Amino acid sequence: MSRRNMDAAPPDLPNGPLPAYRAMLADGRLASDPAQRMAAERLQDLWTKLRGYDPPPMPAPTNSLLARFLRRKPVEGADEARPHGLYLVGEVGRGKSMLMDLFFAAAQVRRKKRIHFHRFMQDAHAGFHRWKRENPDGDDPIPPLADAIAAEAALLCFDEFQVNDIADAMILGRLFQALFERGVVVVATSNIVPDNLFAGQPGRDAFLPFIALIKQRLDVLVLEGVRDYRRQRLRSLSTWHVPADRRAERALDEAFADLIGNAPPREERLVVMGRKLSVPLAAEGVARFDFSALCGTPLGAGDYLALATHFHALVLDAIPRLSPANYDEARRFITLIDALYDHRVKLVASAAAMPDQLYERGEGAKAFERTASRLEEMQSQEYLELPHLT
Ligand SMILES: Nc1ncnc2c1ncn2[C@@H]1O[C@H](COP(=O)(O)OP(=O)(O)OP(=O)(O)O)[C@@H](O)[C@H]1O
Ligand SMILES: [Mg+2]
Repeated sequence: MSRRNMDAAPPDLPNGPLPAYRAMLADGRLASDPAQRMAAERLQDLWTKLRGYDPPPMPAPTNSLLARFLRRKPVEGADEARPHGLYLVGEVGRGKSMLMDLFFAAAQVRRKKRIHFHRFMQDAHAGFHRWKRENPDGDDPIPPLADAIAAEAALLCFDEFQVNDIADAMILGRLFQALFERGVVVVATSNIVPDNLFAGQPGRDAFLPFIALIKQRLDVLVLEGVRDYRRQRLRSLSTWHVPADRRAERALDEAFADLIGNAPPREERLVVMGRKLSVPLAAEGVARFDFSALCGTPLGAGDYLALATHFHALVLDAIPRLSPANYDEARRFITLIDALYDHRVKLVASAAAMPDQLYERGEGAKAFERTASRLEEMQSQEYLELPHLT
């Protein structure tokens, strides 16, 4: 696969997210959307406030009461004056991540970090355990952990903020309080308004102060757009390209670039039953593979299932003709398609033939019939509009 199109950076970043957003409207990359424009304006405000933002690092931690007193006081005063972060919330496909990524790319903040919220929490728990191992007599891992996070990022952008796990809920309040005290500004995208975070879960009462804190430190901005751009993009995608030649490769490059928007694609690693599964290129819930890497190596149902739950779309290059001669590949491909289909993952592929011509006659042809029929269905408008099942 080639990397053409994949580094098409949004224009005009030096002036902030709003001019960049406008430039993308002007060159037709984005459709105009009043809710998005409003959000882009709010992000622009924050961008301006944060130019050169570089809160001083905390003094070294110490246990003396006086030092604690001295350490807390000026920081608390400064806390109020700090710019509020933003909590972008809305239905799926409204452009929240796209806008946040523009903001993040433009932000003129030396220490900044954009991370999927789920990943952030995994890292936080790992940090806790490490600290406890190294400090068996220590009583509170939150301050050192917050120091480490704040040293790395004065601006933290979280994609897909959500709380499902009691272990996360238990530490979030104190961790975020400590981060805010250290001057960290948070921007987040989410499908859930703060008041509904962790709703209906045991232990919710203890979680309420965290919600209050989020509402105090972040402005909540509801992206009320009516269009699901992701679905719209999928609907206009052509999903099966025959033959798998250079032209098809370019079409797949374009489909991939279109699906991931501005996000930079990179290698991702999934952990499947303790093993690492490498995804050569991925961003925004979309993975790209060559057929040979995905079905020509000894992967199994567990790997395909992990891909199908983790990614909402797969761009798959160069599916060859299948036959009894390459039955291992064919068998894996059948398993892969079953997993994708069950989870309503959208597939864009280039192949040597149309699905019903893909498997040459002979042993195994019968087993492939179901796969061919699924592949046909996966190209239909109805299928492309189904939500991904995770
Ligand atoms: N105004 C627009 N015109 C055209 N495409 C757009 C527009 N806004 C967003 N998109 C595209 O629609 C897709 C979905 O956008 P995005 O991923 O930002 O949605 P989201 O709100 O973060 O969704 P989710 O809640 O599922 O994470 C992306 O490919 C994005 O580039
Ligand atoms: Mg998103």
